[in-house]
Amino acid sequence: MNEEMRLVRLTEDYVFKSFDCGEKDLNEFLLFDSKDYLKRLVSVTYIIETDERIVAFFSVSNDRVSIADSDKATWRKIKKLFPHTKHRSDYPAVKIGRLGVDIHYKGQHIGSDILSFLKRLFVTNNRTGCVFITVDALRNAVPFYMNNGFLLLDKSFAEDESKDTCPLYYDLFQLIH
Ligand SMILES: CC(C)(COP(=O)(O)OP(=O)(O)OC[C@H]1O[C@@H](n2cnc3c(N)ncnc32)[C@H](O)[C@@H]1OP(=O)(O)O)[C@@H](O)C(=O)NCCC(=O)NCCS
Repeated sequence: MNEEMRLVRLTEDYVFKSFDCGEKDLNEFLLFDSKDYLKRLVSVTYIIETDERIVAFFSVSNDRVSIADSDKATWRKIKKLFPHTKHRSDYPAVKIGRLGVDIHYKGQHIGSDILSFLKRLFVTNNRTGCVFITVDALRNAVPFYMNNGFLLLDKSFAEDESKDTCPLYYDLFQLIH
């Protein structure tokens, strides 16, 4: 991110500027749905903008990582992250519901900067417990998340090409230990 760019939290009176991340569904979510989701407390959207256009946006909601979302081997791995007395069938998480970088700004590490920002945000003065960041990544974005330390939650999705998205998780505990 450079000095011209600023991060703003979407408000109901925000005036949208030009934006195209190359994924129609994501563009339309920002333009037509993000304010309703905000109003109904379903997700909060953050925008990185310049005076002229929107550079990127992301939306986050509360989530959980549960035994039902994971393949058996991954769940065993997740359980090992916690002492035996803290084993549960789910753990608190925050979900990246949507994330898009404008096509003019791709490949400039803005997406990675957003992930670093989120990782820090949820381990700094956190108001609630949150162990993981989750995302149902579009198939072509899976390498982007894996480059940023995310792991597959259910390997069967990665192997099944009929699935459009693939669940991944990031363990926030590694940032503080
Ligand atoms: C996926 C997306 C968010 C990445 O943002 P970005 O700012 O271009 O990504 P970065 O520049 O931070 O890339 C980080 C790394 O991931 C790699 N990467 C990014 N997108 C990739 C892709 N589609 N396939 C493979 N690798 C990718 C980059 O090469 C880079 O690797 P490097 O660190 O070795 O140079 C952006 O391309 C986008 O908005 N795509 C369309 C919408 C989308 O798919 N969103 C995700 C929905 S879950």
